[in-house]
Amino acid sequence: MEEHNKNDNTGLISLIKPKSPIAEAYHTLRTNILFAGLDNPIKSVLVTSAFPQSGKTTTVANLGVTIARTGANVLIVDADLRRPAQHRVFKLDNKVGLTSLLVNENMAMEEAVKKTNVENLSLLTSGPLPPNPSELIVSRAFAALIDKIKANYDIMLIDSPPAIAVTDPALLSRFVDGTILVIDFGRVPRDMAQKAKEQLVNVKANIIGVVLNKIPSNGHGYYYYYYYRYYGEGADRVKKRSKSKRHRTRSERSEQKPFRRWLQAFFKKA
Ligand SMILES: Nc1ncnc2c1ncn2[C@@H]1O[C@H](COP(=O)(O)OP(=O)(O)OP(=O)(O)O)[C@@H](O)[C@H]1O
Ligand SMILES: [Mg+2]
Repeated sequence: MEEHNKNDNTGLISLIKPKSPIAEAYHTLRTNILFAGLDNPIKSVLVTSAFPQSGKTTTVANLGVTIARTGANVLIVDADLRRPAQHRVFKLDNKVGLTSLLVNENMAMEEAVKKTNVENLSLLTSGPLPPNPSELIVSRAFAALIDKIKANYDIMLIDSPPAIAVTDPALLSRFVDGTILVIDFGRVPRDMAQKAKEQLVNVKANIIGVVLNKIPSNGHGYYYYYYYRYYGEGADRVKKRSKSKRHRTRSERSEQKPFRRWLQAFFKKA
């Protein structure tokens, strides 16, 4: 995703500027996800990253808006029980949420889930932060709640903390059809991105794609992003998507080559 204007503090570019190139990129991401599992449709997605501040929350929120527009009933679950932020994006309070449901099994899901200002899009905020996030994620109550969510919503999107720092994303990946890794272009060392991927692959997470975020725009209104699908060990069908408003110059194309090669290798090596 191209860098967006940091002054629009909501981060909900898909809602504010639905015709913008960035909103269009989320639209393409949505299409890719919905078609990533042709035999087994992807109905639940975990979004994580190697490092903090890569754009997980922004990606989940915009993807939620974009998928809800199709008429699907979408629930965003803020399972970042360390630095939750979805409530801020949607300007909702976080007094009750996911953790409230987990520690109080008599509480009905409807009491904690909030409607957003986007039709068909609901949010389960994190709730009060627990001292033991990983334990909550492996609890029976968590598994039961996820089952209930899947029975009640068409699509579930899970926001999470960074995978290098904590095991929560690896634990969360068991509950979803697909996992997306957000990589902050230019900031995250490639070996760290590789390590994050390995941690997920080790727990058999189905990595369905990588979002390259914060790609600097060159000021000519051109943008691009890549989205790669992962077809599993041994499969080398790597799909690239890119978009540009104008044709790239030869030197720009050659600048992209090493990075593209790295991405291809990233998806081939487990
Ligand atoms: N494409 C982008 N262009 C510019 N800024 C962005 C972009 N995506 C996200 N940001 C900004 O980067 C910061 C981090 O984004 P975000 O909160 O989505 O990341 P995160 O991975 O969820 O962070 P954390 O690890 O703290 O949960 C925010 O200030 C957000 O507005
Ligand atoms: Mg976040």
